Amino acid sequence: METLFLKAHNTHDVERAGEILRAGGLVAIPTETVYGLAADALNGNAVKKIFAAKGRPSDNPLIVHISGFSQLAPLVKEVPEAAKRLAQAFWPGPLTIILEKSALVPMETSGGLDTVAVRMPRHPAARAVIEAAGVPLAAPSANLSGRPSPTSFAHVREDLTGRVDALLDGGPCDVGVESTVITLAGDVPRVLRPGGVTLAQLQAVLGQVELDPAVLHSLREGAKASSPGMKYKHYAPKAEVTLVDASPEEFAAYVNERKGGWALCFQEDLPFVEGPAISLGSRYDGGGQARRLFGALLELDKKGAQTAFAHCPSRAGVGLAVYNRLLRAAGFRVAHPEGTLVVGLAGPSGAGKSTVGDFLKQGGCSVLNCDSLTRSPQVYSPDCIEELRAAFGEDVAPGGKLHRKELARRAFATQEGRRRLGEITFPRILKQVRQVAESAREAGTPILVLDAPTLFESGLDSICARIVVVTAAREERLSRVMARDNLSREQAEIRFSAQQDEDFYESRADYVIENSREPGRRLAAEAVLADLKGEAAKRL
Ligand code: TXA
Ligand code: MG
Repeated sequence: METLFLKAHNTHDVERAGEILRAGGLVAIPTETVYGLAADALNGNAVKKIFAAKGRPSDNPLIVHISGFSQLAPLVKEVPEAAKRLAQAFWPGPLTIILEKSALVPMETSGGLDTVAVRMPRHPAARAVIEAAGVPLAAPSANLSGRPSPTSFAHVREDLTGRVDALLDGGPCDVGVESTVITLAGDVPRVLRPGGVTLAQLQAVLGQVELDPAVLHSLREGAKASSPGMKYKHYAPKAEVTLVDASPEEFAAYVNERKGGWALCFQEDLPFVEGPAISLGSRYDGGGQARRLFGALLELDKKGAQTAFAHCPSRAGVGLAVYNRLLRAAGFRVAHPEGTLVVGLAGPSGAGKSTVGDFLKQGGCSVLNCDSLTRSPQVYSPDCIEELRAAFGEDVAPGGKLHRKELARRAFATQEGRRRLGEITFPRILKQVRQVAESAREAGTPILVLDAPTLFESGLDSICARIVVVTAAREERLSRVMARDNLSREQAEIRFSAQQDEDFYESRADYVIENSREPGRRLAAEAVLADLKGEAAKRL
């Protein structure tokens, strides 16, 4: 088949795509998530061609794409209140809603089910093509079945040239992983596939939302999938992929020991990894990881990788979608390094980190107060004191004896001073903490919590496999700090302005404990403790 190459910014090309689709043809189109392979959703024969072109099993239903809310009602039995609220909050955007279907939707589109999945994409070209076609468009991801989804035009061209009528070039995709799929067809709303809209965002709109077990676990032999797509092998590069659930340093050690494998990792891992590596960007940037993920899996193939070790991403926020895709790419193979699970505990001043630290201690974790190390003679060794004198003046250690107040006064006066102090003390703190971690490991301690206000600045996070962040409302934190350290409001404000804000911490957290209301806090801390214990048990 001759395949036409079209450009999304050219209105004639978009019109042409619409004509082809109206006539029952196939066109690959850009969306904000991944490219889709579109056909007229209401034309069973057109839809059949999608399955043929992709090599997709015909019982795997397709998502119907619409460009306006009024197009939803004819496709479904009824539009429940919850669907209206979700549409209001997330459409147009990366959310697919499953509802009971109307007779208008052919069985080819719904894969024989009596439900239909509907989504309103945000990408202007996707919307323009739907408008030009004048019909809703069924569109699975525009890859050959089993391959990673395409997030750039080059990917689509590679998979589908010669197999479809036209390809519409709209540049790279913003989100990079497919839409979140939620079903409203059961009793409780349930996420069948995590994506660009997060579980927390959905819960904020609907209240209770479940996560389908198949998101995190492989289906048992013979079990019925809520979403047929979940029973098929997915996103698999040619390389054998293993997910490694570890801190950056543990991850690197794991990969370095197994020579010859590729690392699919984060920027923070790169300094430690010796062999070939592809980075998904920062460990703390779930959005960036999502954008790069499929391209990286395809690149592994291009490089001829036979074995790859992927660093397990955080499951928080969009991270859950990245984790879910990597799990499938790895065929659910997850490795856990042996030994102590090191957990970072951080958060802004006055959030109540120590309260949570105490709770974890009572729950059986070892807790190391890293702040107290800044008082230890191992950190403030004679050579350290020499460096401090050189940086901040003789008066910070008259006669070689550290004068803490004076050092604090000078070092904390400017950003530059703070940075210099860190440069001198952080490597020493890190060394001390490593020793504690090593002893914990030798003693067989399951969980070591590092209570560290400067967890990220000091580089301690590179030995943490999990990060717990404690936050509280700013007002509440202010009054706590004022009472605790006997400060005026103004002084407390000044201290806060020199520190990172809530977002900095929250975006780096595997778990956030919101420390404002007592019962909520206790529940959250209990859930975190239980989860950490489960993770530690996998390392025995
Ligand atoms: O972001 C996206 O959703 C992209 C773009 C192109 O819009 N599309 C996409 O489609 O990822 P596809 O076909 O690759 O994935 C659709 C998933 C499959 O896992 C399928 O089994 C599930 O949604 N699905 C579709 N209809 C369903 C239904 N009625 N019940 C349960 N699962 C359904
Ligand atoms: Mg797909």
